Amino acid sequence: MSSFAQRNAHFDRLFATNNLFWLGQNTNHLPMHPRVRQAMIDSIEAEEFHAYAPPGGFTALSRGIVADLGLPQDAAAALITDGAVAALATVCRAYCEPGTNFVTTDPGWKWPMQFAQQAGADVREIPIYDPAAGYRLTPAQLRDNADRNTRIVYLVDPNNPLGICYTRTEMQAFCEIARGVGAYLLHDCTYRDFAENHVLAADLYPEGAITIYSFSKWLGLAGLRIGAVVADHRIIERLAPYSAATLGSSVVAQRAAQAGLAVKKEWMTGVQRTQRRNQAAIKEAVDKIPGLNVPIYPSNGNFVIIECVELGLRPEALATVYAQRGIMIRQGSYHTPRFGSRFVKVSTTVPSEWVDAFCRELPDAINAARGVNDIPELF
Ligand SMILES: Cc1ncc(COP(=O)(O)O)c(C=O)c1O
Repeated sequence: MSSFAQRNAHFDRLFATNNLFWLGQNTNHLPMHPRVRQAMIDSIEAEEFHAYAPPGGFTALSRGIVADLGLPQDAAAALITDGAVAALATVCRAYCEPGTNFVTTDPGWKWPMQFAQQAGADVREIPIYDPAAGYRLTPAQLRDNADRNTRIVYLVDPNNPLGICYTRTEMQAFCEIARGVGAYLLHDCTYRDFAENHVLAADLYPEGAITIYSFSKWLGLAGLRIGAVVADHRIIERLAPYSAATLGSSVVAQRAAQAGLAVKKEWMTGVQRTQRRNQAAIKEAVDKIPGLNVPIYPSNGNFVIIECVELGLRPEALATVYAQRGIMIRQGSYHTPRFGSRFVKVSTTVPSEWVDAFCRELPDAINAARGVNDIPELF
């Protein structure tokens, strides 16, 4: 089987697993808000999906996203895409070309690097897995890696998988550096709503920041594929011809997203309560096992990483054992070949029973993982 066919079969198997505990993809599995469900039912019953949505998305939804970010409607616009990943692909296709470079962090999120490379850019990954620097990109590192050929500085903030979130001072420095070399600051804010305090680059660098917005994590719409790219009108005009959603994104998904925005405050209060409780439960379970640790706590994302390198344990072995027990967690190598042998990642926007099962199994899963020699390919 080709490696793509294998990858597809892997996720097909996961979907076909009854009662799988999805703790690996930072998706949100909490029962949906009744208003979101009703919006989808209403849309289906009205059969409005027979028509294509507007190419940039329903105006009410675009404006709702801009308002949710707290950006001025006259200065910023949102282009609706099939998830944040399609927004990232659109930006890379529009701006990357041979002779340019794309600067990002390691760890970070791998798909945009692939998009940038495909468009001909040279990808520069700056290592940030360093406790001495608080697992954060420093302005000095960015300054050393950015130059006049840098077209995009791609920051995942809060960082997936680390869960760190940049301060206003740091973000100001990053924006200044990007502005200084004439680069766009591509600010992937997929996990923004889980952060204690989040600073938007768009507030500091309105003419050059491009904000990536997702409905997968805070609202739980991953399988519906809906997200957006938000930037000043001039940038959106440039991006629009590169969007693959030129016939519009899913009508039903957009209705769900609109309903989600209307109940966001109430919804997120409950989501945060559960996911913070889940983070605490994982930390408590990990702290009982010498050699295992949660290096970044609390996480500003809906996930935590668990370091297992001191135990001499391969993350893939632990992920394999958990998979055999109906629990999906993520091996670090999904995010970073360089640091991936150090950790696994566990998602927290899930029912607490799922996290409790993970915690209960942990001591035994570690023992079992030591005996695993035959590790199937994980993706
Ligand atoms: C940093 C980051 N950006 C974007 C995405 C994809 O978001 P979406 O589901 O909206 O395409 C993910 C998903 O895991 C992510 O971690």
